[in-house]
Amino acid sequence: MVDSIEGLKRTHNCGQLGISELNREVVLMGWVHRRRDHGGLIFVNLRDRYGITQIVFSQDVDKNSHNRASQIRGEYVIAVKGKVSKRPEGTENPRLSTGEIEIYAEELYILNHAKTPPFHIDGSMDVSEDVRLKYRYLDLRRRSLQRNFILRNNAAKSIRDYLYKEGFLEIETPFLTKSTPEGARDYLVPSRVNPGNFYALPQSPQLFKQLLMVGGFDRYFQIVKCFRDEDLRTDRQPEFTQIDMEMSFVDQEDVMRITEGMMSSIFREVLNIQIEIPFKRLTFDEAITRFGVDNPDTRFGVELIDTSDIFEVSNFRVFADVIKKGGVVKAIKAKGCSGFSRKDLGNLSELAEIYGSKGITWLKYESGTWKSPIEKFLSDSEKSAIFERVHLSEGDLLIFIADKHHIASEALGHIRLNIGERLKIIKQDTFDFTWIVDFPLLEYDKNEMRYTARHHPFTAPLDEDIPKLKTDPHKVRAKAYDLVLNGSEIGGGSIRIFQSDLQSAVFSALNIEEEEAQAKFGFLLDALNYGAPPHGGIAVGFDRLVMALCGDKPIRDVIAFPKTQKATCLMSGAPSKVDSEQLAELSLRPSITK
Ligand code: AMO
Ligand code: AMP
Repeated sequence: MVDSIEGLKRTHNCGQLGISELNREVVLMGWVHRRRDHGGLIFVNLRDRYGITQIVFSQDVDKNSHNRASQIRGEYVIAVKGKVSKRPEGTENPRLSTGEIEIYAEELYILNHAKTPPFHIDGSMDVSEDVRLKYRYLDLRRRSLQRNFILRNNAAKSIRDYLYKEGFLEIETPFLTKSTPEGARDYLVPSRVNPGNFYALPQSPQLFKQLLMVGGFDRYFQIVKCFRDEDLRTDRQPEFTQIDMEMSFVDQEDVMRITEGMMSSIFREVLNIQIEIPFKRLTFDEAITRFGVDNPDTRFGVELIDTSDIFEVSNFRVFADVIKKGGVVKAIKAKGCSGFSRKDLGNLSELAEIYGSKGITWLKYESGTWKSPIEKFLSDSEKSAIFERVHLSEGDLLIFIADKHHIASEALGHIRLNIGERLKIIKQDTFDFTWIVDFPLLEYDKNEMRYTARHHPFTAPLDEDIPKLKTDPHKVRAKAYDLVLNGSEIGGGSIRIFQSDLQSAVFSALNIEEEEAQAKFGFLLDALNYGAPPHGGIAVGFDRLVMALCGDKPIRDVIAFPKTQKATCLMSGAPSKVDSEQLAELSLRPSITK
């Protein structure tokens, strides 16, 4: 049996009361966080999302409440009526906002019982994440998670306030729609009334936001769910949220300025931190050349060094051959790492191989001598050239990769990150924003043997590069920009093509036939013929932004009901089998099970 609270109103929350409310008669409601039985006195830490308040059940104050308090267990839901008292000297708890007071209970209402939870809320962390995800509603009671969602809420509010102030309208776009071209796999939804036909859940509102521009809404935004069936990583979820924006009559600078203003506003209002704007910029080429990747972590140096010219006529054939074929020999210097073991170097080599490299070569400089598997191939002039190029000093380790430019760069870029983490030289507690600009418009897909759009096929080329669409498509740069925060891509966008003849030229560079284009996005192409304004936009990954705001938390800690690496929900059991009638209704046959 539980008690009714009809007529009883909560007067305060559990994080609110202090010395200024002494002797006030209050009613608190919440969960039993901990109970300590000292015989005549029973102490209960009462918890809600605002904090914890200590309740004292004393035999001398109310016998009945004291008796019943001995029955309550962890996570019971209770209401308490009582008086705010100052805690006796020496028993204050400075870790609690309410740590100077306690409530002497005069009435206790047990509102609900609770089974013993599978883990203690805010207890030790030695419980598997699977258990936490299965009982997500209990995990969500934890203070650290609650803090993340409060912060997420504050960020969303700050975004809306800023964008409304800037004249943006929040307009919803459909979830049951056609496939959009963001490059991941679609989640499909079968149509019951159109047997054999499917909707696709949007990978982003890209096409619709462009159509809203044609519709005359010159500033649109939406904080919106997107769905992508791709392999999950630590910063990817199958459904995630974008701050999606589109603007008419703008250029790249305008979109970047609005985004910087929004970021500045969020960091100021949510964390009370003044970030520096405008953000620094790197071209795509610079980013790859210096950091190896297009989402560089610029919180530390250890930049890539090109040593190709040194090895053009080297006796080390691996290097000389790669250079002859148009490749490069790039290196990074790991300061003071000459002590790396064979195993360490093996691990780095394996890491490089993930990105297509054939391996690494190393060189250690210790006690004035060179140690390296290729030492015997190096001439004195090569040695002195290396020495000067990299400013080699005692205890340094050099790591070389010879390969095609993009492979050597990317592989070394990841080794660079690994070294940065290992040497603990990545500046913490800082928010380092970088724009990456001048992306290539197209990239060559070896499997399909054709160019594909690097961003999406509606991205406009730089004006001066348009003539190259026919002659050197790989050299065409795009009016596209990514925003990188502490080495994580948190946003991306572009200025769009708004004239149908340019769109046709890009489709032909992409080898997309007129018919195929019509079938896929005919509605957008049609719209471009009815007076589409020049427009462009960006989408910021809201989850990734919140991860950073929360202090580099995993993505699952900033999404209330996240999926596992295998895209399952351990709490609800989704995805799950459906019965055959439901399938029949959708004109689907059950799959052949493995
Ligand atoms: P893009 O595909 O770059 O651009 O996506 C924008 C941002 O969304 C975030 N993001 C993700 N976050 C979590 N889980 C995922 N699976 C995931 N995928 C992407 C990233 C990314 O930078 N329509 C274009 C935007 C535009 O051109 O305006 C788009 O969707 O932080
Ligand atoms: P090998 O002659 O193949 O035995 O290679 C000699 C050394 O060069 C070994 O340490 C290899 O790991 C390394 N190596 C081979 N290919 C490359 C490459 N493309 N870039 C850098 N190092 C390489």
